[in-house]
Amino acid sequence: MDTLLRKNQELASILEVSRVLTSSFDLEQNLNAVMEILATNLEMQRGCVFLLDRLDAEIRIVAAYGLSAAEVRRGKYRIGEGIVGQVIESGSPMFVPNIGREPKFLNKTHSRPRKSGISFLCIPIAIDKETFGVLTVDRIYAEEQGTVDDDLRVLHIAGSLMAQFIKLWDHFRKTEKECGDLRSRLRERYSLPNIIGDSETLHHALKAVRKVAATDTTVLLLGESGTGKELVAKTLHYQSQRAQQPFVPVNLAALPESLIEAELFGVEKGAFTGAAVRRTGRFETADGGTLFLDEIGELPLLLQVKLLRVLQERSFERVGSSEPVRVDVRVVAATNKNLFEEVRRGNFREDLYWRLNVVPIVLPPLRERRSDIPLLLNYYIKQFNTFYSRDICISRAAMEKMTAYDLSLIHI
Ligand SMILES: Nc1ncnc2c1ncn2[C@@H]1O[C@H](COP(=O)(O)OP(=O)(O)OP(=O)(O)O)[C@@H](O)[C@H]1O
Ligand SMILES: [Mg+2]
Repeated sequence: MDTLLRKNQELASILEVSRVLTSSFDLEQNLNAVMEILATNLEMQRGCVFLLDRLDAEIRIVAAYGLSAAEVRRGKYRIGEGIVGQVIESGSPMFVPNIGREPKFLNKTHSRPRKSGISFLCIPIAIDKETFGVLTVDRIYAEEQGTVDDDLRVLHIAGSLMAQFIKLWDHFRKTEKECGDLRSRLRERYSLPNIIGDSETLHHALKAVRKVAATDTTVLLLGESGTGKELVAKTLHYQSQRAQQPFVPVNLAALPESLIEAELFGVEKGAFTGAAVRRTGRFETADGGTLFLDEIGELPLLLQVKLLRVLQERSFERVGSSEPVRVDVRVVAATNKNLFEEVRRGNFREDLYWRLNVVPIVLPPLRERRSDIPLLLNYYIKQFNTFYSRDICISRAAMEKMTAYDLSLIHI
C-alpha cells in the first residue's frame, strides 16, 4: 500500500476514534468501538484495553477485539507481571517483535494458538505520569502493511485520547454517584416525618402536601415568617417525581427590581454591554425540576405579566433575545403577605394570583399550635445532640416558659 494512502487511513482512524470517545460516557461500549476501528483500519489481529483497578491492584481487560469472553476473563495481571504489568509499572511503551521468542510474554488469555511470528505492541494509557491502563495490539508485520513506528505513533495518539476519556469518565462516574447520594440524603431530610407537629391545623396543611407532592400542580404556600414555607417547598420537590432534578429557590425580596428579569429568564450573549456570554436564568436551571419563587408578593407588576405568560405558555425569552425557550418546570410560590389583599389594593395582578393559587396551602403560626412547641424543641435538641455529640436535655421549667411565650412581648 502506498504511504500516502496509509497515512490517510491513520488520520481517518484517529478522527473516528476521537468521534467515538466523545459520543457518550459508556466506558465499555466506547473502548470496544475504538478497538474495532483500530483493528479494521490498521490490520491488527487482536487488541485489548487493560485498566488498573487501584483497589485490588489488579490489571484487567475492559475492552477487546478478537478475543472470546473466556479469554477476556483470563486476562488479569499484577503490577510488574508480564509485559502488560511492566508497562503499567514503568509508564513506557514496549514492542515485542516475536512473542514466540519472548519469555516475558505470558499469553495469559490463551488467545494465541501459535505465538510464533506475532509482534506485540503495548502502549501506556496515562496522563501526567499517572499510568492507569495499557493498550495492546497483536500484529503480523510480514503479512501486512505498515511499520512498527507508524503503528506506535497511531497507537500513542489513540492511547492519549483514551486516557482523556477514561479520566473524564471516572470523574463523571464519581460525581454522578456523589450527586445521587446527596440527593437521596436530601430526600430523606425533606420528607413528611421531618415536618414536626401534631396539631389539627398543621395536620390539615400536611394532608394537602401529601396529596400534591407527586403531582405537577402549582402550589402557593401562605404563612407568616418562620412557619416552614421553605421546608414545605423542599419537601414538595424531594417527594416528587422531580426529586432527581434541581430544586431552584429564588428569593424575590432579596433581588433588586432591575435584576429580577435577568435572574429569572437569563441573558442572551451580547444583549447589553458586559454580556459576553449567555447567562442561564433560574427557569432554565430548574428545567425538569422545581422553581421555588419565595416572597412572590414582592414581584414588581411589570414582571408579574411576564411570569403569568411563562405559567400559561411554559415558554419565555431571555433578555435580549426573541427566541422562545421552552422549559418543564414545576412552580411553588410562597409569601407571608395576604396576597388577596394585595390584589384588592392593586399591587398584585388578579390573573396571576389565580394562576398561582391552584393549590393554596396555609401554614399555621406556632402561636396557633402551641402544643407543637415541645415536639419541635425535642426534635431540634435531638438533632443538635447527634450533630455535636452531646446529650443535652431541656428542663421542664424551660419547656413551659417557651410554650407559654408571648410573641407580642417582643414589640418594644
Ligand atoms: N414544622 C416544622 N418542623 C420542623 N422544622 C420546622 C417546621 N417549621 C419550620 N421549621 C424550621 O424553622 C426554620 C424556618 O422555616 P422556613 O425557613 O421554612 O420558614 P419560612 O416560612 O420560609 O419563613 P420566612 O417567611 O421567614 O422565610 C427552618 O429551619 C425550618 O426547618
Ligand atoms: Mg422562607
